[in-house]
Amino acid sequence: MSDHLDALLHEKRIFYPPEELVKESNIRKWMDERNIKGYSELIKRCEEDPEWFWDELAQELDWFEPYTKILEWNPPYAKWFADGKFNIVHNALDRHAKGWRKNKIAYIWEGEDGRRRKLTYFDLYREVNRLANALKGLGVRKGDRVSIYLPMIPELPIAMLACAKIGAIHSVVFSGFWAKAFKERAIDAGSKIVITADAFHRRGKLIKLKDTLDTVIDDIPTIEKVIVVEHLKTEVDMKEGRDVFWDDLLKGQEKECETEILGAEDTLFILYTSGTTGKPKGVVHTHGGYAVGTYTTMKFVFDIRDDDIYWCTADIGWITGHSYVVYGPLIAGATSILYDGAPDYPDPGRLWKMIEDYGVTIFYTAPTLVRMFMKYGEKWPQDHDLSSLRLLGSVGEPINPEAWMWYYENIGGRRCPIMDTWWQTETGMHIITPLPISPLKPGSAYKPFPTIKADVLDDDGNSLRGEGGHLVIKTPWPAMFRTLYKDEKRYIESYWSKFPNIYLTGDVGRIDEDGYFWIQGREDDILNVAGHRISTAEVESALVSHPLVVEAAVVGKPDILKGEEIAAFVILKEDVKPTQHLKGVLREHVRKEIGPIATPSYIGFVDDLPKTRSGKIMRRIIKAKLIGEDVGDTSTLANPEAVDELEKAL
Ligand code: WTA
Repeated sequence: MSDHLDALLHEKRIFYPPEELVKESNIRKWMDERNIKGYSELIKRCEEDPEWFWDELAQELDWFEPYTKILEWNPPYAKWFADGKFNIVHNALDRHAKGWRKNKIAYIWEGEDGRRRKLTYFDLYREVNRLANALKGLGVRKGDRVSIYLPMIPELPIAMLACAKIGAIHSVVFSGFWAKAFKERAIDAGSKIVITADAFHRRGKLIKLKDTLDTVIDDIPTIEKVIVVEHLKTEVDMKEGRDVFWDDLLKGQEKECETEILGAEDTLFILYTSGTTGKPKGVVHTHGGYAVGTYTTMKFVFDIRDDDIYWCTADIGWITGHSYVVYGPLIAGATSILYDGAPDYPDPGRLWKMIEDYGVTIFYTAPTLVRMFMKYGEKWPQDHDLSSLRLLGSVGEPINPEAWMWYYENIGGRRCPIMDTWWQTETGMHIITPLPISPLKPGSAYKPFPTIKADVLDDDGNSLRGEGGHLVIKTPWPAMFRTLYKDEKRYIESYWSKFPNIYLTGDVGRIDEDGYFWIQGREDDILNVAGHRISTAEVESALVSHPLVVEAAVVGKPDILKGEEIAAFVILKEDVKPTQHLKGVLREHVRKEIGPIATPSYIGFVDDLPKTRSGKIMRRIIKAKLIGEDVGDTSTLANPEAVDELEKAL
């Protein structure tokens, strides 16, 4: 890790995008049309008049009734285009299906087993309408919540769009989360309906999603119906009166469905993400601003055009999938790849083969995957023709310069600029990101998107240059989250109370002498495991829920491939034998409680954990010990001897 930081501090290389690409880019053309000479003039105009910029882009979308006000900013509450009448689905689907993109392919789907399906905008439109009508028939109304628990199959975007079309609020739960995690999220959302599937394949293994759901469904009191997609046609238990197959439900449904005319500020979805406590945060996004933000970044960051074949490898269960597999690309009328499978299955050439097969032009993935493929070696991408690629993207965690260079050379053939996009579930859209016209430094996410002011502050709120500090955002942006679902207090406390009227990201960043941002990771108790946000508290509470465990402390252990791995220190009940077997049992327990992504890589048994006098576990000290760093001052500890305990456990 410290080698990595060292490399970041000394990275001096600069890579310029090809001239032709710059000339042809959406952003360059847009600037030319407005007589804007260069990047600094663009930023200046956007800073002087951010509403001018967003108004221009919002005008590219369809409004049922125009807005009269662009932004109302009463920190920490922003409203964008608030009196406009709008529905994101009209923009993502209806207008394409009724226009010249009618027979354009929206999604090319490929399953892990090699099955393929292609859906045009018109296909998608009709499926969405049928499901929307069916949902209405089940009594789903504007504002009702629907939980969606599906793998990466076309029914997933169809379900999201069908909800949004009728003004219902979707809450997608990643299909890699297991029963307890699903339950917690569905209870918090108060969902009436769950949409799930029988099963799917991962690494050739059958994952039975409906069976998993069945273990908790009776504990979610608000659920009235479970809709089951027969994806693999495996056997499932169907409860009479509650469970219904997707195909049966859609039989005979009308292929037209009126799109609900909504206010721009109406809620589109709730997406749960990890917070510093064990309870996930329900991040709330709206129709209007979110549409404008995701569309604009598709256009200017990914430079999307009608002849592109675009592929974002993120699962739709995460924000990256919501914004850049579903809404952004569809609003832009793009053709996207949807892949339901492991990236290195059946061999490490899978993704590169798919890029070649479909002629992918824009490819967006996570550093953890880049590092994994680095390990497999150049041979795999070299076996495939990747010359269709024009632009690359990276998201989810800092990309170390070595991985950046490997990606740039071996995947992008030194001709594709890499958009290292920094953003969050809360921000909804790219915040700190290059544009295709930007000179790039490997490992830096470049600068804030036009109109946005970001900064790095010390504890007293002073701007820092050249040193690490709190990464903050000082101006509102259209796709920002509006609140945390049913938890206004936490919204204010988590994000807006450290610095007045300034959004605290929870990340540590550094701004260099050229104004480039370098993101260094989280500053709170959130782990980033292979680009996935996991709260230490959530894993701890899963461990403690095991009958043999008294207490647990979870910290991140730096890992070359995954960024971080999960390390857990566990205190067992008296008289329980700390065996190797028990470690396996606890690992499996966490897997079952949260999901495979939260499984600890290391478990150590201890008799005591270092705590402050007020009883707070000192994860900082545990982590220092774990990675062999100086633990610093332990005088504030109630039990300094516990630190030596850790050593023994390792
Ligand atoms: C991290 C994912 C460095 C960061 C879109 C952030 C990044 C968290 C980058 C959000 C990047 C995301 N460089 N770090 N380009 N992108 N992160 O909510 O720590 O799942 O706070 O959203 O991922 O994770 P989330």
